[in-house]
Amino acid sequence: MKKRIFSGIKPTGDLHLGNYLGAIKNWIALQDEYDCVYSIVDLHAMTTEYKSNELRENVFKIACNYLACGLDPQKSILMVQSSVKYHTELCWILNCLTPLSWLERVPTFKEKSQTQDENINMGLLDYAVLMTADIILYKAEAVPVGEDQLPHIELAREILRRFNSRFGDTFPEIKGIVGKGARVKGLDGTDKMGKSLDNCLYLYEDYDMLWSKISKAVTDTARIKKTDPGNPNVCNIYSLHLLFSSTKDLELIITGCKNAEIGCIQCKKLLATNISEELEPIRTKYYEFLNRPDFVNEILFEGNKKANLFAADVMDEVYKKIGIDHGFFKK
Ligand code: AMP
Ligand code: TRP
Repeated sequence: MKKRIFSGIKPTGDLHLGNYLGAIKNWIALQDEYDCVYSIVDLHAMTTEYKSNELRENVFKIACNYLACGLDPQKSILMVQSSVKYHTELCWILNCLTPLSWLERVPTFKEKSQTQDENINMGLLDYAVLMTADIILYKAEAVPVGEDQLPHIELAREILRRFNSRFGDTFPEIKGIVGKGARVKGLDGTDKMGKSLDNCLYLYEDYDMLWSKISKAVTDTARIKKTDPGNPNVCNIYSLHLLFSSTKDLELIITGCKNAEIGCIQCKKLLATNISEELEPIRTKYYEFLNRPDFVNEILFEGNKKANLFAADVMDEVYKKIGIDHGFFKK
């Protein structure tokens, strides 16, 4: 039997290279080795300010993106978190096992409490518990994510251990899987690439759009003129080359930059070309899926159905173990 994977992305906007390199690229690579459940976590998206029609639209767009990147519904389950009601049921059960102090210490909660201090809602505090429910509801053992999610996974491990020690072995241990693009920096060269910051390259962008942003991106700040030798190790453009360029291109850049044989413009043009080449087929398929809503909705419908069936069995087991199986309600 294959081990199970669960992962998800919030439908809060268009997907960027951080999402692709930190999560989705890994998801696709793991589809044969694991039984995978990949989700659009719309309930998590509600923790920040949103508009109903945009949320609805974003769920569909993210589904198209997953499929365009290579999520294969024959191999993996593609589902929408809110369509399996057990996520919130299990979240409540786990809430009653989770000390408040654990949640107040979560780095993303502390960060969000500062960046959206006008809206520090209970959902934000409970974010990691719902995420724990997402993962263990499918008895997943591995969670491919970017580095920023590792504290959440650590907390999930603590919560599921509490459940197991209180009610008996139910959920397997989980581990995070982070790949080569665990923390992709934005074009500012300092912050993590993120939807809320103006520092992203998006999956739908073509060469011209990519070039207009990359041409302005920060490089090795000590290299002022083309004739100055540069240091690829401190240059964010080089770190992106590491994720998109061939060994031959990398060698050319390292020697060319260190010996001032190639300038930043040439180096950036090569990067824009290489990113655009990798994204081109994804972009094309993305627009194809956007134009086939019935086809995509059918895939979601099937995925949600499979996820519901699996989760229902796990919840039966959970309810028995916690002592809520009176059967007082009959349809
Ligand atoms: P989010 O957009 O916050 O729902 O993130 C979805 C997934 O993308 C998570 O696994 C994140 O860890 C990952 N991710 C987001 N931004 C980055 C980034 N800049 N570098 C690497 N992974 C990222
Ligand atoms: N918190 C994740 C993020 O912001 C999204 C997420 C929700 C998730 N539930 C999950 C990721 C379960 C992995 C597993 O990126």
